[in-house]
Parts: sequence; structure tokens; C-alpha cells
Amino acid sequence: MYNVAIVGATGAVGEELFRVLEEYNFPVKKLVPLASARSVGKEVEFKGETLKVKELTCDVFEKEEIDIAFFSAGGSVSAKFAPCAVKAGAVVIDNTSYFRMDKDVPLVVPEVNPEDIALWRKKGIIANPNCSTIQMVISLAPLHKEFNIKRVEVATYQAVSGAGKKGMEELFEQMRAIFNFKLDKVVDEREVFQYQIALNVIPHIDKFMDNGFTREEMKMVNETNKIMHSNIEVAPTCVRVPVLRSHSEAITIHCEKEVDVKRAREVLESFEDIKVIDNPEKNEYPMPIIATDTDYVYVGRIRKDLFDNKTLHFFNVADQLRVGAATNAVRIALKWIE
Ligand code: HSE
Repeated sequence: MYNVAIVGATGAVGEELFRVLEEYNFPVKKLVPLASARSVGKEVEFKGETLKVKELTCDVFEKEEIDIAFFSAGGSVSAKFAPCAVKAGAVVIDNTSYFRMDKDVPLVVPEVNPEDIALWRKKGIIANPNCSTIQMVISLAPLHKEFNIKRVEVATYQAVSGAGKKGMEELFEQMRAIFNFKLDKVVDEREVFQYQIALNVIPHIDKFMDNGFTREEMKMVNETNKIMHSNIEVAPTCVRVPVLRSHSEAITIHCEKEVDVKRAREVLESFEDIKVIDNPEKNEYPMPIIATDTDYVYVGRIRKDLFDNKTLHFFNVADQLRVGAATNAVRIALKWIE
């Protein structure tokens, strides 16, 4: 049994972590919810018990004898407090981007590169990848093994939960204003996204870099190859859409071998975390309303390119708070304790 801390306990991912730890029956001896001073005393539920949020300080990990610390409170919090947790003897499973590209920190999707967890000893930290990367590599891994992927083109349709609770609230507020015909109010209710998100799509997530790509897009480029130990060319366009908590991705893979739709379905289905929904005759394909609140990456619309027999297209959807964050983190922890 383990003493577990959740840093960022009142955020969207933090709250999901409580649910997933409970659902996966993680061997928790004591659960310690941690957050900044302004959230201290807030109540969270775990296994029917009410726990009070404690203040995140450097010495709390030693005081509470923490074995596993999940961090999901932003990169600057991880930078400051993860070393305190490690020093106190805990393993850190970090959901932020802060340590992801550090060569001494494994970046892990347990179904794709579980062996990398062994590198945790180098710094005491295991990084959880970006949500859009996790769901993409889960669907790429079996296809890469079969067809040898050289290049990926991907357009994402990312839910507002990717921007945290405030992003979700912003969509709700704007929808309410639209519903009440307070159209002038819609744009006022804006703090998180660059433009109105209700009834809109925004081809911009995180900061623009000098090369014209966004930080979110560059995460997909760099993290994919670190996880897959590959040098696949990844060309992403990341787009925010007014969906609550499941990200979708339209993906094209260019391969070294000729692709085959039937074989692609078979290898995708052989992965435990993937469900193929792909029946055009019955209008069946993955959508956010199917994926929400589940732990699967749903894949469909699988088709061979019209002009190039080494190119395959498909569409995938997954709950970004679970598959893209909390569930992946808990699965890392389950492998770590094995
Ligand atoms: N950066 C992602 C988003 C969240 O904004 O949707 C996934 O970690």
C-alpha cells in the first residue's frame, strides 16, 4: 500500500485522478490532496471519505511520507516542488510539460513504451505526455509496427477541458449567453481562449513559436518520437473546438510498406486500449460523445489513400482528461509498483 499525493487536487485533471485511482483500485494507504494556499480546506471525495486539501509546501512530502506524487498543477509548480517530493523519497509522475523532453526523464505511455519506466531512477521523475500526443501514439504504435510509418499529418479537434476547468467554464458561460440571446455578452465572457469558443473553432493552442507552429503542435512533434523511439516526421495543426472533454484527431500516415485496411483494423484491435468503430454502412465512427468518460482510444474512418497505396487515413477520439491525463498517469503508477 502506498501514500499518494495529488498536487493540483482541485483542478480538472486532479479531480479525475481521484476517480481513476478509485476505479482502478490503486493500493492507496493514505491519499493527500495538495494545492496552493487559496484552495486549502476545500473538500474532495475519495472512496466515500471526505478529504481536506492541504497546502503544497516543500516539506509536506516528507511530513506525509509520500511514496507517489502525481503533479498536475502547471509547469512552474512542478519545477519548484517536484524536486522536494523526490528528495523526500517519492516518485513523481508529472502531468506537465516541464520535464518531458529531459533525457533523464522517461516519457511514458504504458501501452507503447512501458520499458522506459525503468529510467525513473535517474531523476525520480516519470513524465506523462501531452494529451493529444498520448491518444495519437496509442493509435500509431500498432500501425507503425505493421507498416513502418515515415510521416504523419494530423489535424486535431481539441476539447476545452485541455485548457482546464476555466476553459470548460468559459464555454458554458458563452453557451448560456447565446441561449439567452445575450449575444453581445458572449465575447465578454472570455479569459482563457484567444477568441469566442462557443460556435467557433480556433486554430491556435498555446503560444506561437518562431517556426509558425504552436507549442502544442511542437509537443506532438517532439514527444511522439521520444515515446516511440523513432524519427517519424509529424506535421500537426492543433485546433480548439467547442467540445467539452474529448479530443479528436484526423490522421494521415505515410508508410514504407503498402497499407491494407483489413490488416490495419486487425492490428488496431489487438491493442487493449483501442476500440475500432468503423462501419460506414451504418454511419458508425468515433465521436467525442462516445469517448467521454471512457479509457479507450476510439479509431474509425480507416481508409486507404486514393492515390498512394502506402498512405492510410483514419480518425481517432479519446477523453483527454482520462486517456490523455489521469488514466495514463495511474497506469504509469501501476506499472511502477509492479
Ligand atoms: N495541451 C492540451 C490542450 C492539454 O490544451 O488541449 C493536454 O495536456
